[in-house]
Amino acid sequence: MSDKVAKLELDGKTYDLPVLKPTLGPDVLDIRKLYAEADVFTFDPGFTSTAACESAITYIDGDVGELLYRGYPIEQLAEKSTHLEVCYLLLYGELPTAAQLADFTQRVTKHTMVHEQMHYFFRGFRRDAHPMATMVGVVGAMAAFYHDSTDINDPWQREVAAIRMIAKLPTIAAMAYKYSVGQPFVYPKNALSYAGNFLQMCFAVPAEEYVVNPILEKAMDRIMMLHADHEQNASTSTVRLAGSSGANPFACIAAGIACLWGPAHGGANQACLEMLKEIGTVDRIPEYIAKAKDKSSGFRLMGFGHRVYKNFDPRAKVMKESADEVLGLLGIENNPLLQVAKELERIALEDDYFVSKKLYPNVDFYSGIILEAMGFPTSMFTPIFAISRTVGWISQWKEMIADKNQKIGRPRQLYIGPQKRDYVDLRHR
Ligand code: SDX
Repeated sequence: MSDKVAKLELDGKTYDLPVLKPTLGPDVLDIRKLYAEADVFTFDPGFTSTAACESAITYIDGDVGELLYRGYPIEQLAEKSTHLEVCYLLLYGELPTAAQLADFTQRVTKHTMVHEQMHYFFRGFRRDAHPMATMVGVVGAMAAFYHDSTDINDPWQREVAAIRMIAKLPTIAAMAYKYSVGQPFVYPKNALSYAGNFLQMCFAVPAEEYVVNPILEKAMDRIMMLHADHEQNASTSTVRLAGSSGANPFACIAAGIACLWGPAHGGANQACLEMLKEIGTVDRIPEYIAKAKDKSSGFRLMGFGHRVYKNFDPRAKVMKESADEVLGLLGIENNPLLQVAKELERIALEDDYFVSKKLYPNVDFYSGIILEAMGFPTSMFTPIFAISRTVGWISQWKEMIADKNQKIGRPRQLYIGPQKRDYVDLRHR
C-alpha cells in the first residue's frame, strides 16, 4: 500500500482509489470498494488492465522482454538450473540447498507411478483421441483415486496433491501418447531424471533397451523449465478461478489443461508447427505474411504476438538457441522447418504491420521444431506444455488458497440485454 490516492470524479462526487505499490511493475488502483461507494462497475473484457490477485511467484516486463521466477531471470535458470529445481523454487519461493533438492527429487520420484486401475480409463477412449482430451479426463479423474489429498483446507494434503501432480503428469501424458500409437504403457524408472523418465515412458518399447539421449534429455528439461509459469495467463487464471470455489486440486488442474488446449494459448505450439509445415518453403512466406495482415483472412501467424510481451519473449530466444544446438547435435541443422521459421521471423520483424503492433515470436514459435526433432507428433506438443505448467498452476493455486484476501471469483458484467418484459403466450406470438 502507498499513501498515493487516485481521484475519480463522477456525477459531481469524488471517490478516492488507493494506489497499491508493487515490488516491480506498474502501480495498481484498488477498486474493491468502488461498486459499494459509487454504484459503478469497471469494464475490462480480457482483463487487459486488471490485476486479479497479488502474487509473488512470477514477474514479466513485457516492454523489455524480461521473465523472473521468484526474482531469478529465466535466462540464468535456463543455463544453470533444472526443471525440478525450478519446481522447488516456484513452489517454496527459494532455490533449494543440495539436501532440500535431493529430498524434493526423491519425493517426486516416488510418486511417478499412477494407480494401476487408471490404466483402464484409457481403454475407454478412441485411439485417435487428441492426447489433451485424454489428459483432461484422466487428470480430473485423479480425484476419484487420491481422496487423501483433496481437502484443500489441510496444508499437508495440499502439499501431497502438489507432489502427486508434478510427479504423475509426465506419466499420464506418456500413457496418452502410448495409447494413441497402440503401444504398451511404459512404467516410470526411478533411476532416471525427470526429463529422461518422460522420454523413456514415451519412446521405450518392450522389444529393446532404451537409452536416454543426453542431448534430448537436456533439451526436454529446458523446454519444461521455460514453460513452468507465466503470471496470470489464461490457464493459470482458470485454475485460480476453479480453486476459488474450493474445488479439489485435481479438478482445478484439469480445468487448466482444458484452457491451455486452445490455439490462442498453449495449443499454439501445435498450430505453429502445422503452420510452418503448410508454408513448407521460404519462397511461400510472403503469401502467409500477407494473409496474417489481412483481417478478413482470419489467419494469424501462430507463435507470434503476446498479451504482455511487446518485445521478444525471452523464452523464445532461449528456445531458438536450443533449437540450433539440438538440431546441430542431431546432425539436422538444415531442418527445413527451422529455416522457414528463422526466415519468417526475419521478414515479419522487418514488416511494419508486426513492428507497429509489437508482435514478436513467443515461446511457441520454436518449441515445436525441437519437439518434432525429438520424435513427438504435433498432438503431443501441448501435453508437454501442460506437464511443464503443472508446477506453475499448482504454485499459483497454493498461493491463492493461502491468501487471506481470497474469495470466490465472481466478475460482474455490462448488461446489454432486453429491458424487463412480460411473458407472451404462444397463441399471441
Ligand atoms: C501463450 O498469457 C500468457 O502468458 C500465455 C503464454 C504462457 O506462457 O502462458 O505465454 C503462452 O499462450 C503464448 C501465445 C501463443 N498464441 C499464439 O501464438 C497465437 C497467435 N497469437 C495471437 O492470437 C495473439 O497474439 C495472442 C492471443 C497471443 C495475444 O492476443 P491479444 O493480446 O489479445 O492481442 P490482440 O488479439 O488484441 O491483437 C492485437 C493486434 C490485433 O490487430 P488490431 O485488431 O489491433 O488491428 O495484433 C494482431 C491482432 O489482429 N495480432 C496478430 C497476431 N497476434 C495479434 N496478427 C497476426 N498474427 C498474430 N499472431
